[in-house]
Amino acid sequence: MSRMDGSAIARPLPKSPEFFQKLLRGALLMTLLWACLVPAHAQDAAPVPRRGVNIVGYDPIWTNPAQARFQPRHMQAIRDGGFDFVRMNLQAFAHMDKDGQLSPAWFVTLDTLVDAALKAGLQVILDEHDYESCAKDVAGCRLKLSAFWRQVASHYKEAPASVLFEILNEPNGAMNEAWNDVLAENLSIIRASNPTRRVVIGPSKWNSLGELDNLKLPAADRNIVVTFHYYTPMEFTHQGAYWASEFTKLSGITWGTSSDRDRLARDFAQVAAWAEHNRRPILLGEFGALETAGMAQRAAWTDAVARTAEARGFAWSYWQFDSDFVVWDMSKDGWVPAIHGALIPEAADSKLR
Ligand code: BGC
Repeated sequence: MSRMDGSAIARPLPKSPEFFQKLLRGALLMTLLWACLVPAHAQDAAPVPRRGVNIVGYDPIWTNPAQARFQPRHMQAIRDGGFDFVRMNLQAFAHMDKDGQLSPAWFVTLDTLVDAALKAGLQVILDEHDYESCAKDVAGCRLKLSAFWRQVASHYKEAPASVLFEILNEPNGAMNEAWNDVLAENLSIIRASNPTRRVVIGPSKWNSLGELDNLKLPAADRNIVVTFHYYTPMEFTHQGAYWASEFTKLSGITWGTSSDRDRLARDFAQVAAWAEHNRRPILLGEFGALETAGMAQRAAWTDAVARTAEARGFAWSYWQFDSDFVVWDMSKDGWVPAIHGALIPEAADSKLR
């Protein structure tokens, strides 16, 4: 994961009437699609999230706010850029004391960000992102994860319904076997203080769509959004990634043949069939291709994945705003045009840049 320093000044994007018309048309279509999946009372509880971006997972803001790259003002830039939610990646275990108490300073940072998002008109998913330690030590994770949700759920119990909780990002490794128990345990903790808030939960094996059938959710809880992540094919999206050893040495892998596109269509059709059968709304919580894939290829894949998700009525959140796979260029203080345009076609069409 690349980590860069410094930050810059946000530049509000000029918007044309066509931009708003297209946004509105898109919003109506997605609302209709979600209406087929989400029960009426859940819809009343919160507006429909649609297009989002992952933020602050790898930002110094958590350890040294003075060095923060992400600034509260970026929330407005995200909203103006055509997104309606952020997924905040929280590696909170590092901010707990030995009894599992989250530090007051961590809550101050979190409150500032949540506040800025809500003021900008964004919905917020609070995603617990300590998936690596959870994959290695299930017992330790259970203690910390339940301590996290006890405190965070209670802290945000009066928050508007546009704040959603996501129990744990990408359960994998040793957590695979335990996941159905762990999710049930944490959902009960959340439900004690937040009986109807939307909670995001995904299948094991890194939120793999192939594991949807093994995901056990309480049938009576209709305020669950089911999430999956999509980086297929990994050889393409993760070519050169230092943290994924099978792909570190790869380069020059391209994407876009008709068989590549068929696979994407088939995969998302499989998720849609599961969603329809189980009557659950779907969030594609992460997808993205690393810089090493090349800009044109990244954009082509990103556009195809986002449009296929939308055609299926899935909300999506791009991986990620800053750090790597970026859609926002901190050094230029603006969007990466090709990736932003691939995600939000109205922005590209209206020649915002
Ligand atoms: C991880 C990142 C990683 C990304 C793509 C995320 O869930 O937190 O570290 O870069 O997936 O591999």
